[in-house]
Formats: sequence, structure tokens, C-alpha cells
Amino acid sequence: MTAFPDQAADDYDERIVRRVPGYRLGQELAAAVLANRLKGDAHILVAGCGTGGEVAELARALPAARFTAIDPSAGMLEQAATKASDQSFADRVKFLQVAVHDAPAETYDAAIAFLVLHFLRDDGAKANFLQALANRLGDGALLVLVDPADSSAFDDDYRQWMVQQGLGAEAADEVVARTKSAWFCVMPERLSALLLQAGFEVSEPFFTAFGYRGIIASRSRKP
Ligand SMILES: C[S@@+](CC[C@H](N)C(=O)[O-])C[C@H]1O[C@@H](n2cnc3c(N)ncnc32)[C@H](O)[C@@H]1O
Repeated sequence: MTAFPDQAADDYDERIVRRVPGYRLGQELAAAVLANRLKGDAHILVAGCGTGGEVAELARALPAARFTAIDPSAGMLEQAATKASDQSFADRVKFLQVAVHDAPAETYDAAIAFLVLHFLRDDGAKANFLQALANRLGDGALLVLVDPADSSAFDDDYRQWMVQQGLGAEAADEVVARTKSAWFCVMPERLSALLLQAGFEVSEPFFTAFGYRGIIASRSRKP
């Protein structure tokens, strides 16, 4: 996928919470899962950090952890860096303007990709992205993914929820249409197969909301 355009960062934080059900809750739960399972001084790779919402949540939940937060979009990173300095955790984050395959080749204790994988086609791009993450994780390290799955079961409910958040009916329709036309969502079984192929074991989802799913995988198998 391509980087988000710089201008997408301008009102991203205000827009995303009205378009992704449970956006904040998903980040809070992801932070709780990692805080509970990692050692306090863990080093976490945040892939596609955008404006840094999940970095902020993780920094609060893991006050001694360090982060390498990467994103190819300069505009999104700029907002993330401002958030880190406003919330006084900038000294624990290294921000880098790179995509996952160019992330520093260190061995991290965990990685998180929040709302990133569904932008990648299932033509090898998803597999490459997961493999690039796997290559940077040691045995037993954790990977958190949150994305919409390929599902239409809640389309009407999702549209209604967005209208309740103040989106016009047309804007809500556009978002639902985009989930089919511009995103590359896969069935949960396909995601598990991709993860398995990259050397991960998958457990129960820790979060679901109208098709959005949060999963935790463990880097416990060699591919
Ligand atoms: C929907 S935003 C999610 C941002 C943030 N994680 C959040 O949940 O708010 C997707 C982000 O992924 C970034 N991105 C796209 N391709 C990427 C890649 N190959 N590696 C890392 N980040 C990528 C985009 O630039 C964008 O900032």
C-alpha cells in the first residue's frame, strides 16, 4: 500500500473515531493485552503508527517500554511526534518514516499493526508484510493486528452506527462501499492461514465490533 497523504493527518483523530467502531476501545484492549503479557521494559514495533493513537495508549499502559514507531507518511508521523511530546513520552519513542519492510532489523518483543493490513492486497503483499514483521520478532514475541474482516453481516448496523456518530447518510454509505471496493479484507480463516505461513500461532480474537477484529498472534513457529 501507499503511505497516507500528508493532509489525511489533519483531521484524522477526529474522523477515525466516528468511522471505526471501538477504535479507542480496540487500542485500550490491545494495550492491556500487551501490558499484561510483556515484560515492563519491552521494545515494541508499532507498524503504521499513523498519528500515534496506539503508541500513546501503549505508552500509558507500559510506562517503562520503548517503541519504534514507523509510518511512510510524514504528515501522520508529525502528528504522532507532537502527541508523544505533548503527553511526555517522546523520550521512549523512535519515529521513523519507513514502511515495514524497511523497519530497523532488530528483535522486538512485540509488534502491533492497527488498521494497516486491510490496505494491502492478498496477492503476496499481506504475506510479505507479515513476514517482515515475523523477521523482526523473537520466538514467543507477540503480534497484535486490528482490521476489518471480509464480512457483510453488519453492514446496515455499521452504517447506522456511523449516522449515530454524526456522519451523513451518504458519507456512511461511502465508508461501507469502501470496505468492499478499496480495502482488501479477508476472512478470519484466511488471515489465520497467512499468519501460520509467516510463523505465527493465532488465538481467540480479543476484540470484535461490526466486523472489525483484534487478534493476538505469537511468533512461536519457524515458517
Ligand atoms: C488507517 S491508518 C492507521 C494509523 C494508526 N495505526 C491508527 O490506528 O490510527 C494506516 C497507516 O498505515 C500506514 N502504512 C501504509 N503502508 C504501510 C506499510 N507498508 N508499513 C507501515 N505503515 C504503512 C499509512 O501511512 C497510515 O498512516
